Amino acid sequence: MNAKLDALSAHDVLKLNDLGGYTVPTRGLYPFQWNWDAAITALGWLAAGDEARAWREVERLLEGQWDNGMVPHIVFHGDAETYFPGPEVWGVKRSPATSAISQPPVLASVMKLLFEQGRDRRLAEEKLAATLPGVIRYHLWFYRDRDPEHTGRVCSYHPWESGMDNSPQWDGPLAGVPPVDAEYVRRDTGLVDPSERPHKYEYDRYIYLVKFFQQNAHDAEVLYRDCPYRVEDISLISILHRGTRDLIALCEEDAAGLGLVNTHGEALFSLKQSLARTEEGVQALWSDELGYFLSRDARANVLLEHVTTAGILPLFAGVASTAQAQRMGGLLEEWLAQAPFGVASTHPASTRFEPKRYWRGPSWLHINWMLAIGCEEYGMSREADRIKQASQKCIAAAGYYEYFNSVTGEGCGGRDFSWTAAMDLYWLNPLESFTASKAAAGVVEAP
Ligand code: GLC
Repeated sequence: MNAKLDALSAHDVLKLNDLGGYTVPTRGLYPFQWNWDAAITALGWLAAGDEARAWREVERLLEGQWDNGMVPHIVFHGDAETYFPGPEVWGVKRSPATSAISQPPVLASVMKLLFEQGRDRRLAEEKLAATLPGVIRYHLWFYRDRDPEHTGRVCSYHPWESGMDNSPQWDGPLAGVPPVDAEYVRRDTGLVDPSERPHKYEYDRYIYLVKFFQQNAHDAEVLYRDCPYRVEDISLISILHRGTRDLIALCEEDAAGLGLVNTHGEALFSLKQSLARTEEGVQALWSDELGYFLSRDARANVLLEHVTTAGILPLFAGVASTAQAQRMGGLLEEWLAQAPFGVASTHPASTRFEPKRYWRGPSWLHINWMLAIGCEEYGMSREADRIKQASQKCIAAAGYYEYFNSVTGEGCGGRDFSWTAAMDLYWLNPLESFTASKAAAGVVEAP
């Protein structure tokens, strides 16, 4: 069975979701630009041979950047009736309107790939030069506002900030958040099967937090002190760390020809200190008993002992020791054996595993991609290959869905989804993307 045969091509999915320089994750369910979706999707544009469009995705995301450096998780470039909570609920007064939290900053790592792999060198240099300073400010913001005590572990204030919205990791910390007391109407459950979406219990608390940020005027100090949800999210910490390493490398290689090492010397020095702090601080999240890293509820001061893909992302960051990496590699092997379609977001043996419900068990291809990179870089090529094959199986079974039932391969959530198409183009079937890019360039194959 190959679900791709009667579906849109991956490149067509991106084109369908292109609303003019930014790509919506999928029409209807997510009608704006999302932070880490945009980054992953830019790789799809690159692989489809449209490098200018890939950089445009980055530029449009940065249009939402706040003065303090934060790049929000949603940039509301237009109006849409189909999304809740929209700009009026976030109450952020700027144009374009945005949400008030961020998302895992995979952007810097993606920009490094766009720069290194772009064939149009002039374009790559020009675009990198234009965007890099904003991304440096973004990373400085994370360390400054989200780790004011210099623990080496930035914190998040909302499950949505992790991008893994209803992961079992957040069950404990979310229980400390009161439910919102106002009525609201969700839009998501009218668009996709409610059995695949978070419950009302979680939503009531998600919206409480959104209101809380607004009532406290998004003040960094107040939020750090008073936000009822404050979590050290191991995936956010890992992705940020990798991104910071990549940023520094781009500056030190003087990739943009800007002499950033001189003009941004202080910023780079500060980022290097943050790297060193995280390398040390992240070890407080390692569980020797369980053999992987954990997130931590910083309010209650407890480690969150759920086996989720978040705990393996330190491989992507490069902060695990060789011995730690090997233990995680072994865990991944048996994880894949229990649920063969991708790496299940929650370990199949977990009591909270639900193979269809959002981040409680389905597999997500961009996470698999990061895990595969991490495995490869630790010399675990066999695990990396297995992750890749398991991810290819998802697309073959169901096409370009938002995510996949990790036991059956059934497509779940939104259809014609940008990051899944992008991962196919960039990572899983680059040959196809090569053909697409030649077609875009007007190259005709001899019969
Ligand atoms: C959901 C996902 C999040 C993603 C967004 C748009 O909220 O949990 O990770 O960025 O949808 O696709």
